[in-house]
Amino acid sequence: MKVLVATEKPFSKVAVDGIKKIVEEAGYTFAALEKYTAVSELLDAVKDADALIVRSDKVTKEVIDAARNLKIVVRAGAGYDNIDLKACTEKGIVAMNTPGQNSNAVAELALCFMIYMSRNQLTPGTGSELKGKTLGIQAYGNVGRLVASHAKGFGMKIMAFDPFVPAETIEKDGVTVAKDLNELYSKSDFISLHIPATEQTKGSIGYQLLKQMPKGGCLVNTARKEVINEDELVKVLEEREDLKYITDIAATNQAVLDEKFGKRVFATPKKMGAETAEANINAGLAAASQIVRFFKEGCTKFQVNK
Ligand code: 3PG
Repeated sequence: MKVLVATEKPFSKVAVDGIKKIVEEAGYTFAALEKYTAVSELLDAVKDADALIVRSDKVTKEVIDAARNLKIVVRAGAGYDNIDLKACTEKGIVAMNTPGQNSNAVAELALCFMIYMSRNQLTPGTGSELKGKTLGIQAYGNVGRLVASHAKGFGMKIMAFDPFVPAETIEKDGVTVAKDLNELYSKSDFISLHIPATEQTKGSIGYQLLKQMPKGGCLVNTARKEVINEDELVKVLEEREDLKYITDIAATNQAVLDEKFGKRVFATPKKMGAETAEANINAGLAAASQIVRFFKEGCTKFQVNK
């Protein structure tokens, strides 16, 4: 049984060593394809793999078709929008994620982003503090909850909107429940996005919501660039010279944003939400353990293509 770790953006060495140990102790063969630059390398590497661990690597139909022995693919992370679930299901391949394993790293980055923008991207000049500001959390899942908890330490007022989480669950954390997105956006100095990229959410954050933000409002995106309507983002940033946007996933039109809006926008050069040793270890080792449990016990907990 061959387990392939295919990561264009590699895990830390300690995480790779941990994955290898779990795989080999289970009696399987470990293989790694790291920092690949061409899809052809991935297509070649997956040919004889029985199990595949990826990060944001695109597991397309082409990859699935090339992987003749594949039985399971685990996205070591939360968002599985990079995996063609239909292609997996058609071939009887189980697809999983590792929910919660890298959430704290992403949550800490969201707070880091808020401070970074409040302090003029660490350039000279008078900034502002998070204390007393209102943070609106859009989607109260694993990351959203941690952002709320960390933001409390900064003395922020916290509001959240998530139609899939009962109001009592949110309120138990001392977080105010917004009745809808209009209330969330109109009352929040910062909006932190934690929605997945789905057919429903893609392009859903745009002019109508952002124009409602209070003066000096800042949109913090550690989710996915696809959820932003980029043309409308440009429009609102043009109209509202006080608004700011910071993102862990460069927008498709990031060059336009940078040129037009300068220090009011910022994008990380490469997605770094889950780029901590801890998150790599948590998500990587969880992925390896899930594969072993799948083969040895038939465990399909965390399957996302049921
Ligand atoms: C996730 O969905 O878990 C994060 O976006 C992490 O992505 P990465 O593994 O590519 O850093």
